Amino acid sequence: MPQITMDSTVRELYETPVGHDVIEKVLLQLNLSEKWILNPLIGNRKIRTLSKLTGKQMGTEFWQTLITLVNSEPDVPDDRTAEKSTTAVKPAWWKEAVIYQIYPRSFCDSNGDGIGDLKGILSKLDYLQSLGIDALWLSPIYDSPNDDNGYDIRDYRKIMTEFGTMEDFDELLDGIHKRGMKLIMDLVVNHTSDEHEWFRKALNDPDSGYEDYYFFRKGKDGKEPNNWNSFFGGTAWNYYPERDLWALHLFSKKQMDLNWDNPKLRADIIDMINWWLDKGVDGFRMDVINYISKAEGLPEGNETVGKMMLFYGIEHYYYGPHLHEYLHEIRKKAFDPHNAFSVGETPGIGREMAKLITGEEREELDMVFSFDQLETPGHIRFDDYEYDLNYYRDYITDWMEHYGSNCWMSLFYNNHDNPRMVSKVRKDPSLRQEIETLLAVMQFTLKGTPFVFQGDEMGLINYDFHSISELSDVESRNRYAELLESRSEEEAFKIIRNGTRDHSRVLLPWNEKAKELPDHLRQEADPVITELYRKLIALRKAHPTLIYGDFRLLSRRKNTFVYERTGEESFVIECNLSEEPRKPVFQGKGYTLLMPKSAFGVMKPYEARIYRKLK
Ligand code: NOJ
Ligand code: CA
Repeated sequence: MPQITMDSTVRELYETPVGHDVIEKVLLQLNLSEKWILNPLIGNRKIRTLSKLTGKQMGTEFWQTLITLVNSEPDVPDDRTAEKSTTAVKPAWWKEAVIYQIYPRSFCDSNGDGIGDLKGILSKLDYLQSLGIDALWLSPIYDSPNDDNGYDIRDYRKIMTEFGTMEDFDELLDGIHKRGMKLIMDLVVNHTSDEHEWFRKALNDPDSGYEDYYFFRKGKDGKEPNNWNSFFGGTAWNYYPERDLWALHLFSKKQMDLNWDNPKLRADIIDMINWWLDKGVDGFRMDVINYISKAEGLPEGNETVGKMMLFYGIEHYYYGPHLHEYLHEIRKKAFDPHNAFSVGETPGIGREMAKLITGEEREELDMVFSFDQLETPGHIRFDDYEYDLNYYRDYITDWMEHYGSNCWMSLFYNNHDNPRMVSKVRKDPSLRQEIETLLAVMQFTLKGTPFVFQGDEMGLINYDFHSISELSDVESRNRYAELLESRSEEEAFKIIRNGTRDHSRVLLPWNEKAKELPDHLRQEADPVITELYRKLIALRKAHPTLIYGDFRLLSRRKNTFVYERTGEESFVIECNLSEEPRKPVFQGKGYTLLMPKSAFGVMKPYEARIYRKLK
């Protein structure tokens, strides 16, 4: 890969994998079209010229930061990722699977204390199997003081008391396997709780050998060692007066970042992963795994990047210098010997970087979760806006067409960190079923592995929270406190309510304790949507073309998404992406309509049709 310099053109920068993804991200953030970069007037310019033009606003340092990041990646994706690739996809169970995410705290409570638990999950295995689910991903169930609901782990080898015991876990794993399903655990190894014994030892005893498991640093003139800020508000550093040292935490004050450059730490983590895999766990979802390698010296974050991305310092750890190396090491020493599956949570990672993490020849991760589909350009989760599904069409088509046959996508709209997509698309719930049906049709007929989030299949929507006291999430509470510095309580709460992670964390309706919640925090499960999920999952399973078949875009007119999946069979899916009725583009000649039962004339609001070619 030729090195990029200030004398390279913008186009040359865009042609590098990191340059491509960073530019896309910036365009997304600023709500600018791609055409902006493809336009020769910009594309043929030298970075130096652009840097002069944007001088005051962005500063030359911004461009230097970008160039350094781009040049830190010497590799380019394998050419099987080329646009018109015809190489066959290698089959794997996890490409064929439908995976269901459980947020244990709010899933199913077996003993009436209002907290979901392992026995509760066990009691729902038949239900999950009857839906057609192949694998469960459990958000963390390890011992934790719950500052971030289990994403702050105190002991990796112990089950959280409220959730049950190790015996309950063994029984659950057995129950899952007996039903032919698999279990994917959450692996949170960018950080531990500050109550983890490694951190306690590191802090209390400088000779313990654990100090280097974390990032302890001297302050700079009595202040934080650098300007990085935390995803949950405020600085990313805690000060410990007893040692006159600061320690890094990218998330809450109780989630202390681990130092992956320390080989001893890596060996301990790999031991722990092997311990679970030896127990029979089938794979891991890896929490913010792209953050594990931090730039040497933990340099100051660039101001422009910080302002634009809202996080100072992010360019120094979201695609760090040893990321590939560490992922490869975990794979070789733990995953491969157990034939285990891995999916990385990788915020900020774009299409080309994702290829360098999931290309099968690279032996790093099987899949990643990328998040750029969750909000439309120019918006963040806390904005008050409605999601335009035309953007989803363009986003997903781009990945379908360019991700290549040696990489495989995850397909999802929801998880425990996000409000539900159905409510983002339309706040007024009167077309809820229609939108849910449309989203599910796309999720089960596009190319990739669908991840269902608990409650999707019940038709759940966002909650109308009334006050901050109803929210328990650490992110919401910290952000709210920050907003109060410049806004009224009412304004601050409105913002938090748009984006709070609590929308996806309220106790599911089937729990006894959920029945005691006030009206505005209660929803009924919708059997129509549950049946729809059952049907769509069965359809996908009955037709391997819907899994491995090629994807081809047939129409992307406004409010229209028509695509074809072809292999042994051929399917055409037509979606109306808005509430405006419109004429169908696909007439269905030579095809039979599989869904809905009948469809005449105009496409109704958010209608989705699935056709199969007659033999
Ligand atoms: C991502 C997880 O999904 C989220 O819930 C958590 O707060 C952060 N990582 C920190 O672990
Ligand atoms: Ca319980």
